Amino acid sequence: MRQTLVMGNWKLNGSKNMVAELINALKAPATETPSVAVAVCPPVLFLGQAQALLTDSNIALGAQDADIHDQGAFTGENSPAMYSEFGVHYVLVGHSERRTLHGESDAMVAAKFAAVQQAGLVPVLCIGETLEQFEEGETLAVVERQLHEVIAHGGIDALANAVIAYEPVWAIGTGKTATPEIAQDVHAAIRAFLAKQNADVAAAVQILYGGSVKGAGAAGLFAMEDIDGALVGGAALQADEFAAIIRAGA
Ligand code: G3P
Repeated sequence: MRQTLVMGNWKLNGSKNMVAELINALKAPATETPSVAVAVCPPVLFLGQAQALLTDSNIALGAQDADIHDQGAFTGENSPAMYSEFGVHYVLVGHSERRTLHGESDAMVAAKFAAVQQAGLVPVLCIGETLEQFEEGETLAVVERQLHEVIAHGGIDALANAVIAYEPVWAIGTGKTATPEIAQDVHAAIRAFLAKQNADVAAAVQILYGGSVKGAGAAGLFAMEDIDGALVGGAALQADEFAAIIRAGA
């Protein structure tokens, strides 16, 4: 049985006051819903503050990206190995905003995925199609291509200690949430694609949905067989909304 995981991707939002207020407001909802795993991914500059705030909480800490080098002459990079000193457990890799705004290729994402695992952290592999690809019926071809690159790099077993987040780009930040049925169809196809290579890995891997998830629609998504939680953007910045999503997973 896969545990429901609700992750907040704060993107480039935060201040010292906001980090403290938001995390403190989420502690009770997370504690009151022990069946749901909860994680927050603040901007990298706030990981230290978040770590200190989370010491008395069951909320896990995540980073929004990582580079591939642990240390050395790589100015400006963020080291997966150094994240461990801040209590980071999850690291998003391949978020569509990294792929589109920073030109991250499937190969680069696969290298980041491997570097995060090498550092003993859990990569959250973000995959998903653009609106044009959706309208052209290319959704499965796109997500399978994105998955294949990671599997080719590290083998299917690499997904045994990872999370997948399916985020249709056309639903991110648009208010257009994929219907539970549309999302379920893609999640089931992802799981079937993985099962061809390793049935146990496919059955066990958590596949989160991301794209305009709100408290009101979360229960409908989580009721789907192959939707194991949510990767939440905008709603993660509002304590009440994010708490409603957490409770919907109970
Ligand atoms: O990583 C989650 C994010 O891309 C979804 O954003 O604002 O549509 O929930 P949002």
